[in-house]
Amino acid sequence: MLEGKGQVLQPRLFRTRKMARRAAFLKPDGTRLQINMEDFLGSGTNAIVFRDGPHALKIPKAYDPESLPEEERDDQEYINDGNIQMLELEKAVYRRVGYWEGIAECIDVSEAGIRLAVYKQGDLENYTNTHTEVNSPQKAKWILSVVQTIFHLHSLKVLVDDLALRNILIGDDMSLKFIDFGSCVVFPLEANINTVSEEGLTAQADIFHLGCVIYSIANWKKFERNLFHSDWVRPLLRDLPNLDGLICGDVIQRCWLGLYSSMEQLHCEIKESLEQILRQN
Ligand SMILES: Nc1ncnc2c1ncn2[C@@H]1O[C@H](COP(=O)(O)OP(=O)(O)OP(=O)(O)O)[C@@H](O)[C@H]1O
Ligand SMILES: [Mg+2]
Repeated sequence: MLEGKGQVLQPRLFRTRKMARRAAFLKPDGTRLQINMEDFLGSGTNAIVFRDGPHALKIPKAYDPESLPEEERDDQEYINDGNIQMLELEKAVYRRVGYWEGIAECIDVSEAGIRLAVYKQGDLENYTNTHTEVNSPQKAKWILSVVQTIFHLHSLKVLVDDLALRNILIGDDMSLKFIDFGSCVVFPLEANINTVSEEGLTAQADIFHLGCVIYSIANWKKFERNLFHSDWVRPLLRDLPNLDGLICGDVIQRCWLGLYSSMEQLHCEIKESLEQILRQN
């Protein structure tokens, strides 16, 4: 259980469940996790992130089966294993990528978890909810940054899948840093990233989801439509938000229509129009 000073901090997932009162988190070494509330940085579906000294430590979300009723233990162990495997996959992505400007700085990966730089401004989903809209040049910089980062990941033969504002952090200098690579697929370096497919995930699916991220930045409001939930079939344009007057509206539309055959093509096209916006300001 995450413990604060005199109060218990319960992760999002637990607030609605009876078992919240009973369950406890385990660290990768099998001991119970105890952290102060002020050190808690975030928790997603599969992991917990908290301050550990000057850095952030991401560990798999694993509940101590012993803290649950006997009939729930097997299921929980299965979920724990899945979360542990996802973190192992994420470690492999950080190992392959190394340092890249648009990705959270990875200090190290070890048995203890993934150690990252701390980004105090938090994630872009929360930021768009709590801050007034930034100007067009800032949006242009951010859009160029996310496109360059996904282009880079594809060139390293990594498909991303979980492209969302909650998985993009903001640096002190307002640069964007991608996190959360547990749903990625890492292909051999000789693979053709534009033709490979893994259980439905393709470069074109990443490009569709990237269109949703670009739209969310342009429209200053989270918009998600994960193709996984529609058997990887793209929705019709008429079932997607209107793009009139939006920065990069034409590019978003082409992402949603599946008109880019590669990130290279998308990067090449958007770079010119964004650099024009940046030059005018
Ligand atoms: N280095 C960091 N600095 C600050 N906050 C962070 C950092 N890493 C993660 N967070 C916060 O923790 C949240 C959860 O982290 P992350 O997305 O890596 O976990 P997850 O369980 O894989 O998420 P998801 O539910 O998206 O699969 C992020 O959305 C972010 O708000
Ligand atoms: Mg996440």
